[in-house]
Amino acid sequence: MKTALVTGGAHRIGAQICHTLHKDNYHVIIHYRNSSQAAKNLANKLNNIRQNSASILPAELSNIQEVNKLCNTIKSLNLLVNNASVFYPTPISKLNQHDYQSIMDTNVMAPLFLSSTLSDKLTQNQGCIINIVDIHSERPLKNHAIYSISKAAIAMMTKTLAKELAPNVRVCGVSPGSILWPENVAELDQVQKDNMLKKIALKKQGSAQDISDAVLFLAKSAYITGQIINVDGGRTLNQ
Ligand SMILES: NC(=O)c1ccc[n+]([C@@H]2O[C@H](COP(=O)([O-])OP(=O)(O)OC[C@H]3O[C@@H](n4cnc5c(N)ncnc54)[C@H](OP(=O)(O)O)[C@@H]3O)[C@@H](O)[C@H]2O)c1
Repeated sequence: MKTALVTGGAHRIGAQICHTLHKDNYHVIIHYRNSSQAAKNLANKLNNIRQNSASILPAELSNIQEVNKLCNTIKSLNLLVNNASVFYPTPISKLNQHDYQSIMDTNVMAPLFLSSTLSDKLTQNQGCIINIVDIHSERPLKNHAIYSISKAAIAMMTKTLAKELAPNVRVCGVSPGSILWPENVAELDQVQKDNMLKKIALKKQGSAQDISDAVLFLAKSAYITGQIINVDGGRTLNQ
């Protein structure tokens, strides 16, 4: 059985990626940080469908020791999906080092070191890394400077690692547009949501399934590496 590690796999887009890969016969390792109950519930659900087909692993990804510990626990790997990320506004007038560190460590440092530390295991299986990027890696999101910078970094990481790890490991990216509204501190009001929807050519948000379908497509595409696919309903046509 092929094994996939999905970071931030307990909720939202990450959970859908776990479902989709599991349906394609992967053993899924659901990484989580705070959402232990949701991760356990998802693993139970998947294990009820197929025995011993899902497991969970905790790690605070902004901590390099925890990243290394997570990597050491994994015995064999075919697919790494770097999905976990931090998203909240950081207006330029209120920039501070804490926010910089928290966003860059989770969104950039963790996927880079997960990829490099797990590359030997991926090489053994001619495996693949898929980074979940963001269309704002190309054009910045207002008031989200650090997040936009972090996503530009993971886009370049995708291409850099594709070059460095070829021919043994393919590295690709999926760049979502508006898929699920942000929660908590990053929550939007209805006017902001309507303004966003107006700019999408297809006039609606995408679904987590749209993202997981693109992940599965890239995981299966043996002759694609170094490419990032926008899954954005044509949002970039109007940016
Ligand atoms: N939602 C969208 O419309 C959208 C649009 C563009 C791009 N994206 C990208 O798509 C991916 C998934 O988006 P999403 O909205 O589903 O993500 P999300 O809910 O904001 O976050 C996913 C998970 O990341 C984990 N996480 C955050 N910081 C962490 C840390 N320091 N250490 C370990 N885990 C950490 C959290 O796990 P715990 O809950 O276990 O703490 C969280 O559940 C992200 O890369 C995001 O940037 C999403």
